[in-house]
Amino acid sequence: MVIERAGVVGSGLMGSGIAEVLARAGLDVVVRDISEQAVDAGRARIEKSLARGVERGKLSEDERDAAVARLHYTVDMKDFADRQLIIEAASENEDIKKAIFAELDAIVTAEDAILASNTSSMPIIRFAQSTSRADRVLGIHFFNPATVQPLVELVVSELTDPQVVDTVESFVTDVLGKVAIRATDRPGFVVNALLIPFLFSAIRMIEAGHATKEDVDTGMVNGCAHPMGPIALADRVGLDTCLFVGQSIYEETGDPAAKPPVLLSRMVDAGMLGVKSGRGFYDYSAK
Ligand code: CAA
Repeated sequence: MVIERAGVVGSGLMGSGIAEVLARAGLDVVVRDISEQAVDAGRARIEKSLARGVERGKLSEDERDAAVARLHYTVDMKDFADRQLIIEAASENEDIKKAIFAELDAIVTAEDAILASNTSSMPIIRFAQSTSRADRVLGIHFFNPATVQPLVELVVSELTDPQVVDTVESFVTDVLGKVAIRATDRPGFVVNALLIPFLFSAIRMIEAGHATKEDVDTGMVNGCAHPMGPIALADRVGLDTCLFVGQSIYEETGDPAAKPPVLLSRMVDAGMLGVKSGRGFYDYSAK
């Protein structure tokens, strides 16, 4: 199966990054969000990132123009009808995602089309069971920023056809140039099962007054060669996303390390979501 026509559901932080990666790899991409305003924000995010890619010498102006021409924006799910691969990157809400998978199942015509979710931690099998083709559903989990982070986790549910996983693995490595790892359909898969307890430990450390956020971040950057400290990383991932992922791991495993710190919940209640809202642990309003 040669995948040439892709779709991305959701043009937020991850959806726009994934759409950009696909378009830059030469695919024709339909990007859909629920309102013109959301679609326009996604388009602006992608075009800004493509411009940054040109500035950094990652792609030429011609390649940027070709990628822009391969991206089609819509608010209509029906525009996914002829797609061969669709990656859902809507908000981390199980009911919303299940409804999207049921709708895609009714709309997408090719029997061999592959339906994927970029969820950070929700069970893939629940989305698969919302379709009549559970064997063709899997998790394709990108990392933020999707244009920069090489990793893609392939999440294999109890019902995913092994041939679908092989097809997607070849596609993400050979066509997208990413590094793939496989994970079973368990909370947090591989990376978030390790990352979220780490981020939460750092938040608990500042909540307890054990160290300042600056010192926690300086410690991990300079002591362990992390590209950014855990508090800055939580802000970049999105504090709401960190909270959802922690809740979903904690609900299923009861692992206290994944229990969201109270400080995190209060900040999300306050609309302090990190970089994307202009304020999280740090202030981004000037940027
Ligand atoms: N297109 C292509 N390349 C780009 C780009 C773009 N739009 N923007 C930046 N780059 C490239 C740069 O050219 C640079 O490449 P080189 O190293 O080859 O020069 C590289 O990306 C780094 O860019 P910058 O110099 O602008 O930025 P930086 O060095 O300050 O790094 C960062 C920023 C990439 C975010 C880095 O701090 C980092 O990797 N942080 C960790 C991020 C991380 O851990 N992400 C995972 C989060 S977990 C997640 O996403 C999963 C989940 O489910 C919650």
